[in-house]
Amino acid sequence: MSPRIAPVLQTKRLLLRPWRADDAPRPGQERDEISERFMPANAQPGPAMPWDQWFARRQRLTDSGEIVCWCIADAGTDEPLGDILLFGFDENIRGNAELGYWLHTNARGHGYVDEAVEEVVRWAFEQGGVTRLHAGTDTDNIASQNVLRRAGFRQWGNDRANWTRMDGTASDGTFFELLVSDDRDAQRAVPPPTLQTDRVWLRPFCTRDGERMTQVQADPITRLWFNSEPRTVAFNRERAAQRSLIDRERWGIWWAICAPGSDELAGGIGIQNIENGEAEIGYWMHPDARGQGLMTAALREITRWAFAEGGFRHLAVQVADGNAASVRVALGADYRPVGAWHQREVLGDGRVVDLLAFDRVP
Ligand SMILES: CC(C)(COP(=O)(O)OP(=O)(O)OC[C@H]1O[C@@H](n2cnc3c(N)ncnc32)[C@H](O)[C@@H]1OP(=O)(O)O)[C@@H](O)C(=O)NCCC(=O)NCCS
Repeated sequence: MSPRIAPVLQTKRLLLRPWRADDAPRPGQERDEISERFMPANAQPGPAMPWDQWFARRQRLTDSGEIVCWCIADAGTDEPLGDILLFGFDENIRGNAELGYWLHTNARGHGYVDEAVEEVVRWAFEQGGVTRLHAGTDTDNIASQNVLRRAGFRQWGNDRANWTRMDGTASDGTFFELLVSDDRDAQRAVPPPTLQTDRVWLRPFCTRDGERMTQVQADPITRLWFNSEPRTVAFNRERAAQRSLIDRERWGIWWAICAPGSDELAGGIGIQNIENGEAEIGYWMHPDARGQGLMTAALREITRWAFAEGGFRHLAVQVADGNAASVRVALGADYRPVGAWHQREVLGDGRVVDLLAFDRVP
């Protein structure tokens, strides 16, 4: 036996300590649909692996040095909240390890995993002899991806049908890595700044925007100009959670647009296709919020922020020929017409039209 000894670690609200025989899931801590869908088999105690077996297996893997694991416990009450572990040590290359975690259903939504990941990453790099951490998630598991992004992990890829659900079926996987040499603070995903003028309020997206996003997508005018189909509310809640963090390499920087004094989603605006300080701005408005000058105000403010604080040097807006309201928005925010691509845009009704280009520089 050559166990890896996990030290007891303490954070503001948590105690990371060894699992104990009396930590069996309490009432209200049964495995739920999210665990069934997103966790590999045997990762969490449940019907297929009852607590006693799970605990014995963890003891065995700890003794053989295959894993280092902690019970995430409430620092005040010592009650178990979830699990965090390192495994796959030295796979492919020395210093490599994989990070895994789960929270009981009744412990989610408090940022506990962020706090535990922070401490375990610190320990792994400073004391655990680890130089490269990686983690994988189901591609649909946005909550977990956001944990990794906030911790400074970088997404390196997606693999199709490479993730095994608890029931043994395959789904797509999304994979992250973090090196000890990375500038972790610079890599941490953060929400876009909240921006406010007397005409408009711009805030990060959040899951409750999913319902209004779905209504926007069902609107015939949106479907015409974006040539798109409506998605489900569940999909859009996840999408909103994902867009709540900046990712300049993927979706860019997105804001939820609200009328001053209201928190209700009126529309969305994003800086996307970012490269070399250049980007394209896209936007859409809920039908019940159009025609109040909100989008023009939003585009003006995003443009101001992008040049003053976002580090951009060129911004473009592209509008399908015929979309008069959108052209008014671009011109209203002082974008300049620069020409048109012929027959470049396919509309929702199958027509192919010119794509008008507008741009601005600082
Ligand atoms: C384009 C869109 C975002 C505008 O949002 P909005 O909040 O209504 O925009 P604003 O109120 O700031 O400005 C709308 C302008 O268009 C004008 N307008 C609205 N409907 C119009 C129409 N059918 N024909 C001509 N002008 C129109 C308004 O009078 C206003 O112009 P003004 O500022 O000169 O008075 C919204 O119509 C929308 O979501 N459309 C569907 C999605 C889309 O087309 N996105 C852009 C793709 S490039």
